[in-house]
Amino acid sequence: MRISMSLPKDLLNEFDEVLRDRGYQSRSKGIRDAIKDYIVRYQWMKEMEGERVGVIAVIYDHHYTGVMEDLADIQHAYREYISAVMHVHMTERHCLEVIVVRGDVEKIRELTEKMMRLKGVEHVRLISTSTGKDIEHEK
Ligand code: NI
Repeated sequence: MRISMSLPKDLLNEFDEVLRDRGYQSRSKGIRDAIKDYIVRYQWMKEMEGERVGVIAVIYDHHYTGVMEDLADIQHAYREYISAVMHVHMTERHCLEVIVVRGDVEKIRELTEKMMRLKGVEHVRLISTSTGKDIEHEK
Protein backbone atom coordinates (compact mmCIF):
# COMPACT_ATOMS: atom_id res chain seq x y z
CA MET A 1 0.00 0.00 0.00
CA ARG A 2 1.06 3.52 -0.64
CA ILE A 3 0.59 6.09 2.12
CA SER A 4 1.54 9.71 2.52
CA MET A 5 2.38 11.34 5.81
CA SER A 6 3.65 14.59 7.19
CA LEU A 7 6.66 14.86 9.49
CA PRO A 8 8.55 17.73 11.08
CA LYS A 9 11.55 18.59 8.88
CA ASP A 10 14.07 18.06 11.70
CA LEU A 11 12.76 14.60 12.44
CA LEU A 12 12.96 13.59 8.79
CA ASN A 13 16.50 14.96 8.50
CA GLU A 14 17.55 13.04 11.56
CA PHE A 15 15.93 9.86 10.23
CA ASP A 16 17.65 10.24 6.85
CA GLU A 17 20.97 10.71 8.61
CA VAL A 18 20.47 7.46 10.54
CA LEU A 19 19.55 5.68 7.30
CA ARG A 20 22.70 7.02 5.63
CA ASP A 21 24.87 5.91 8.56
CA ARG A 22 23.34 2.45 8.44
CA GLY A 23 23.76 2.18 4.68
CA TYR A 24 20.10 2.12 3.71
CA GLN A 25 19.49 2.75 -0.01
CA SER A 26 15.79 3.47 0.36
CA ARG A 27 13.82 5.58 2.78
CA SER A 28 10.75 3.35 2.37
CA LYS A 29 12.72 0.34 3.54
CA GLY A 30 13.95 2.35 6.53
CA ILE A 31 10.42 3.37 7.44
CA ARG A 32 9.20 -0.24 7.12
CA ASP A 33 11.98 -1.45 9.44
CA ALA A 34 11.28 1.34 11.92
CA ILE A 35 7.58 0.44 12.01
CA LYS A 36 8.39 -3.25 12.51
CA ASP A 37 10.77 -2.37 15.31
CA TYR A 38 8.09 -0.22 16.96
CA ILE A 39 5.55 -3.07 16.77
CA VAL A 40 7.99 -5.66 18.12
CA ARG A 41 8.93 -3.42 21.01
CA TYR A 42 5.31 -2.79 21.91
CA GLN A 43 4.44 -6.50 21.72
CA TRP A 44 7.44 -7.39 23.85
CA MET A 45 6.24 -4.91 26.47
CA LYS A 46 2.67 -6.25 26.24
CA GLU A 47 3.70 -9.86 26.72
CA MET A 48 5.70 -9.39 29.91
CA GLU A 49 4.03 -10.69 33.04
CA GLY A 50 4.56 -10.84 36.78
CA GLU A 51 7.06 -9.07 38.98
CA ARG A 52 9.92 -7.28 37.34
CA VAL A 53 12.82 -5.06 38.13
CA GLY A 54 13.64 -2.62 35.39
CA VAL A 55 14.83 0.75 34.28
CA ILE A 56 12.88 3.39 32.41
CA ALA A 57 14.96 5.99 30.57
CA VAL A 58 13.13 9.21 29.70
CA ILE A 59 14.54 12.06 27.64
CA TYR A 60 12.57 15.27 27.58
CA ASP A 61 12.78 18.93 26.72
CA HIS A 62 12.47 20.78 30.01
CA HIS A 63 11.62 24.03 28.18
CA TYR A 64 8.35 22.46 27.09
CA THR A 65 5.65 24.01 29.29
CA GLY A 66 4.26 21.70 31.94
CA VAL A 67 6.29 18.62 31.09
CA MET A 68 8.27 18.57 34.34
CA GLU A 69 5.10 18.92 36.42
CA ASP A 70 3.34 16.21 34.40
CA LEU A 71 6.27 13.81 34.81
CA ALA A 72 6.39 14.50 38.54
CA ASP A 73 2.61 13.93 38.91
CA ILE A 74 2.78 10.61 37.07
CA GLN A 75 5.81 9.43 39.04
CA HIS A 76 4.21 10.37 42.34
CA ALA A 77 1.07 8.42 41.41
CA TYR A 78 3.25 5.34 40.75
CA ARG A 79 5.67 5.93 43.66
CA GLU A 80 5.17 2.45 45.11
CA TYR A 81 6.71 1.00 41.92
CA ILE A 82 9.62 3.43 41.80
CA SER A 83 12.79 2.59 43.74
CA ALA A 84 14.96 5.50 42.61
CA VAL A 85 15.19 8.31 40.08
CA MET A 86 18.35 9.85 38.72
CA HIS A 87 18.14 13.14 36.86
CA VAL A 88 20.88 14.21 34.45
CA HIS A 89 20.90 17.68 32.84
CA MET A 90 22.07 16.42 29.44
CA THR A 91 22.13 19.62 27.41
CA GLU A 92 20.82 23.14 27.85
CA ARG A 93 17.34 21.88 26.86
CA HIS A 94 17.33 18.16 27.46
CA CYS A 95 17.04 16.16 30.65
CA LEU A 96 17.53 12.44 31.09
CA GLU A 97 15.69 10.66 33.86
CA VAL A 98 16.63 7.12 34.77
CA ILE A 99 13.89 5.55 36.83
CA VAL A 100 14.49 2.25 38.60
CA VAL A 101 11.20 0.37 38.85
CA ARG A 102 10.12 -2.73 40.68
CA GLY A 103 6.81 -4.56 40.91
CA ASP A 104 3.90 -5.72 38.79
CA VAL A 105 4.91 -5.30 35.18
CA GLU A 106 1.40 -4.23 34.22
CA LYS A 107 1.79 -1.14 36.42
CA ILE A 108 5.31 -0.51 35.16
CA ARG A 109 4.01 -0.63 31.60
CA GLU A 110 1.21 1.79 32.47
CA LEU A 111 3.74 4.18 34.00
CA THR A 112 5.96 3.91 30.91
CA GLU A 113 3.12 4.55 28.51
CA LYS A 114 1.76 7.52 30.43
CA MET A 115 5.15 9.23 30.27
CA MET A 116 5.53 8.26 26.61
CA ARG A 117 2.32 10.07 25.68
CA LEU A 118 3.37 13.43 27.16
CA LYS A 119 4.22 16.26 24.81
CA GLY A 120 7.78 17.41 25.44
CA VAL A 121 8.89 13.84 26.14
CA GLU A 122 11.07 12.81 23.23
CA HIS A 123 12.20 9.31 24.09
CA VAL A 124 11.12 6.64 26.55
CA ARG A 125 12.61 3.19 26.85
CA LEU A 126 11.77 0.47 29.30
CA ILE A 127 14.48 -2.05 29.98
CA SER A 128 13.30 -4.93 32.08
CA THR A 129 15.59 -7.37 33.80
CA SER A 130 14.68 -10.74 35.25
CA THR A 131 11.93 -11.04 37.84
CA GLY A 132 12.46 -9.68 41.32
CA LYS A 133 12.19 -13.23 42.64
CA ASP A 134 14.94 -14.47 40.34
CA ILE A 135 17.23 -11.72 41.53
CA GLU A 136 16.62 -12.69 45.17
CA HIS A 137 17.40 -16.32 44.34
CA GLU A 138 20.69 -15.34 42.78
CA LYS A 139 22.02 -13.88 46.05
NI1 NI B 1 17.54 18.63 33.85
